Amino acid sequence: MDSPFGLLAELTYRCPLACPYCSNPLNLADYGDELTTGDWMRVLTEAGDLGVLQCHLSGGEPLLRRDLVEIVAHAHLLGLYTNLITSAVGFSRPRAELLRTAGLDHVQISIQADEPARSDRIAGVPSFRRKVEAMGLVKELGWPLTMNVVLHRYNIGHVAEVLALAEEVGADRVELANTQYYGWAWRNRAALLPSRAQLAAAEEVVRAAVERLRDRMDIVYVIPDYYSRYPKPCMGGWASRQLTVTPNGDVLPCPAAQSLPLPRASVREEPLERIWAEAPVMTAFRGTDWMPEPCRGCPRREVDFGGCRCQAFLLTGDPARTDPVCHLSPDHELVERAVTAANSERRPRGSALVPRPHQARRPVGPRQV
Ligand code: SF4
Ligand code: FES
Repeated sequence: MDSPFGLLAELTYRCPLACPYCSNPLNLADYGDELTTGDWMRVLTEAGDLGVLQCHLSGGEPLLRRDLVEIVAHAHLLGLYTNLITSAVGFSRPRAELLRTAGLDHVQISIQADEPARSDRIAGVPSFRRKVEAMGLVKELGWPLTMNVVLHRYNIGHVAEVLALAEEVGADRVELANTQYYGWAWRNRAALLPSRAQLAAAEEVVRAAVERLRDRMDIVYVIPDYYSRYPKPCMGGWASRQLTVTPNGDVLPCPAAQSLPLPRASVREEPLERIWAEAPVMTAFRGTDWMPEPCRGCPRREVDFGGCRCQAFLLTGDPARTDPVCHLSPDHELVERAVTAANSERRPRGSALVPRPHQARRPVGPRQV
């Protein structure tokens, strides 16, 4: 068993946006009892002792935590590399300056599309202009900036314009992440899944941009795994290098694993080290012993680790099956059917999308700017 390298600290699932591709759980109301500032500081200290080097502060919208600056300062004191993953709503100049002083290392801002009307329609609230301003502020204060765009049927045709915007704001890195179908995205999969022709066109644009911008911008294209022959090596293997702590203190090997039928483990009840080493939620699919055929005898079993356990569960009801994305999986037909529907004239339209509910309730934690 290796040490975890990265901690995804999901500080809150509250969010001012309502994106229909959100991977947060559907039962958002069950996560209202958020960890306190002291709890998070203890979690970060325990994560550092466990070997974690990078801390990704995410949500929901982490800026809705009033104690975000204190949490960042504590992580910085521990020597962790801190990355704020934000919609940028609430990223005011005073707050940004406090975060800079606290030692925040990197900012990732999500944007929903290349222009205000489309971006705001997908986000469910007017936010595009504030996001662009916030990206300018990130650069002005000297942070490295990643611009993240989740791609789906309603924006993938504008990937060239998205890349032009990334150039304009001076992003150091742009993440073009095809939607992963968990949480709200799973619920909206039939409407969000792009067509084969859309993907082919986008990939051509991305290939040309990678070549043209090689020296200026790092372009990461997260592949749409429903259209792949093999699954993604999800999380680099179950409970191998990453862990997630949810707003209420549950510890998971990945952000989507709360839907799996495994016993809960919480930082409110046990130290992180014991959970990482022994909790069933961590050990269930660690390594390769759990694998069924065809993974068990497959030469790629240490390349993709049998794919994604959460995807296997969502598609088949059994997290221990081969990820149906794999063309060798006995359940691959489930993915083929979704792809066929996405390329059919009779697929659901954008009006069928269910937006994630807004959850911008009162901020919690000590008062800050
Ligand atoms: Fe990966 Fe399993 Fe498919 Fe082999 S059979 S490629 S290990 S998912
Ligand atoms: Fe949970 Fe892939 S998202 S294992």
